[in-house]
Amino acid sequence: MADHMSDHSSDKGSTHYFDVDDDDLARLGSNPRDVTWTIHGASLTAVSDRGVFSYGRLDRGTSVLFDRVPPPPQNGVFLDIGCGWGAIALSLAALSPTAKVYALDVNPRALDLTATNAKRLGLDNVHVSQPDDVHPSIEFDLIWSNPPIRVGKEALHSILDSWLNRLSRDGAAYLVVQKNLGSDSLADWLRGRGFDVERVGSRKGFRVLRVTRNQ
Ligand SMILES: C[S@@+](CC[C@H](N)C(=O)[O-])C[C@H]1O[C@@H](n2cnc3c(N)ncnc32)[C@H](O)[C@@H]1O
Repeated sequence: MADHMSDHSSDKGSTHYFDVDDDDLARLGSNPRDVTWTIHGASLTAVSDRGVFSYGRLDRGTSVLFDRVPPPPQNGVFLDIGCGWGAIALSLAALSPTAKVYALDVNPRALDLTATNAKRLGLDNVHVSQPDDVHPSIEFDLIWSNPPIRVGKEALHSILDSWLNRLSRDGAAYLVVQKNLGSDSLADWLRGRGFDVERVGSRKGFRVLRVTRNQ
């Protein structure tokens, strides 16, 4: 299995970062590695580990997202769909300390790492959870995500459908998607589902899409 477990490299093993259980993680072992990045003038360091997306580095797509998104508002309820070790959720929480940030993943080690990283950074506004454990009445004012494209089109569509339909009336989602992995057809699909989609940036083969409710 590739150590980096990135959406943008090939995983040669049968286990994927989005489909790991405790046995896989025990087999992989642990070798924590720090990652440092900057976003809107803030410098953050977090720990990554084996078995979680983008081990030992900031993903290229996530870095394009950080270069292209406007700073988040100070307050609101924010969401990172597929938090990995937490790069996006931690950034939102650090830039908007009075907002509440939900960080979701299906990989148990990703959730542990994000919680550990939030604690280490003194961010008490990060709520880490499995997707199914978020109360259905909660709406989101802002979503930033590098979504799990590799789960396949049907699963991706179902993930995006469920979370984007929980945007608040004036809420917006920023999604980074590799052009080769279908950013343009994803944008068309989202339009077909009744969302407004605008391309706010494009770099290194990635597109950043801004998705809002069609009002
Ligand atoms: C492309 S990675 C992005 C990770 C991190 N946000 C980053 O930018 O480095 C996508 C993440 O989505 C997670 N994931 C896969 N299926 C999911 C689902 N149904 N709900 C939430 N997260 C999921 C994967 O485990 C993975 O950590």
